[in-house]
Amino acid sequence: MLVHAITTNATYEFAADVRAGLTRPGQKELPSKYLYDELGSALFEAISHLPQYGLTRADERLLRRHSHEIVDRLAGPVAVAELGSGSGIKTRWLLEALSRRQRTFYYPVEISPSALARCEQELRDIESVSIVGFEREYLDGLLEVAARRKSDQHLLVLFLGSTIGNFDRSAGVKFLAEVRRILEPADSLLLGTDLEKPGTRLLQAYDDDLGVTAAFDLNLLARINRELNANFDLRQFAHVAKINEDSRSVEMHLRSKQRQTVTIAAADIEVEFLEGETIWTESSHKYSAEEIPQIARDAGFRCEAQWIDDQWPFAENLLVAH
Ligand code: TRP
Repeated sequence: MLVHAITTNATYEFAADVRAGLTRPGQKELPSKYLYDELGSALFEAISHLPQYGLTRADERLLRRHSHEIVDRLAGPVAVAELGSGSGIKTRWLLEALSRRQRTFYYPVEISPSALARCEQELRDIESVSIVGFEREYLDGLLEVAARRKSDQHLLVLFLGSTIGNFDRSAGVKFLAEVRRILEPADSLLLGTDLEKPGTRLLQAYDDDLGVTAAFDLNLLARINRELNANFDLRQFAHVAKINEDSRSVEMHLRSKQRQTVTIAAADIEVEFLEGETIWTESSHKYSAEEIPQIARDAGFRCEAQWIDDQWPFAENLLVAH
């Protein structure tokens, strides 16, 4: 069963966010959540198959290897909420492990309707798991899930991949604290964190020679053309990844190859770009395994366990609300 709650005014909000990001003084920016339309989600899926981008495979490997151990550490009957489920492939192992001991409700929260549909398709065969999807932003969706919980039920929130890394460090803690506020003591959060690694390895992962990552990033401009009636010339922009040593992150930008003006009709703006000027589309912060327990404490959790991949430095962290 999949319940779709349709978001209204989506195009209006998209236009308002694009206008705000491209007309602000200083560094132009676009919110990274808009990278994931139907084509963007498919391109990200392709990124996860790139030999240079080991992150998704590490995440999946850890969940496959340790799902029983993870499930054994959870108290009582559990309902599972996943923030940004994507295709749901990684979640199978956990749901299978859980469904062996109890009937399980799984609530994917996802802003991409196509990803949500794929997720349901992917996981529908698991016996004694019921899927109820929410087409919502993370916290709005989690609030709805929490409203449905039964009194004897604990929640397990999944925040996998490296989405936490897309917040800057302090915003990340703030976000986790907001998740904590929606939860009850003894609920848990399984948090994926990509760990620090050499800059060369990161640059290959975020700017691959095949150009898949570049296509993924540039698709944001193509999406603005499609949905907001704009005239970005994609060939006049280039994807750039750079290491920011101070914030321990990889920054993704789209760089204007020349001086140019772009019209975005549905946002009612004309935007001027200087040669070399960039639009910041996303940052991916990297963590050390040792800093996670402190981050957890700052957000109102205790870090109960940590699993680290042996091929690609990445950690799965089990946090328990107190
Ligand atoms: N959030 C993912 C990450 O940090 C997504 C991602 C991979 C990404 N490659 C990208 C986002 C390139 C923007 C540009 O790993």
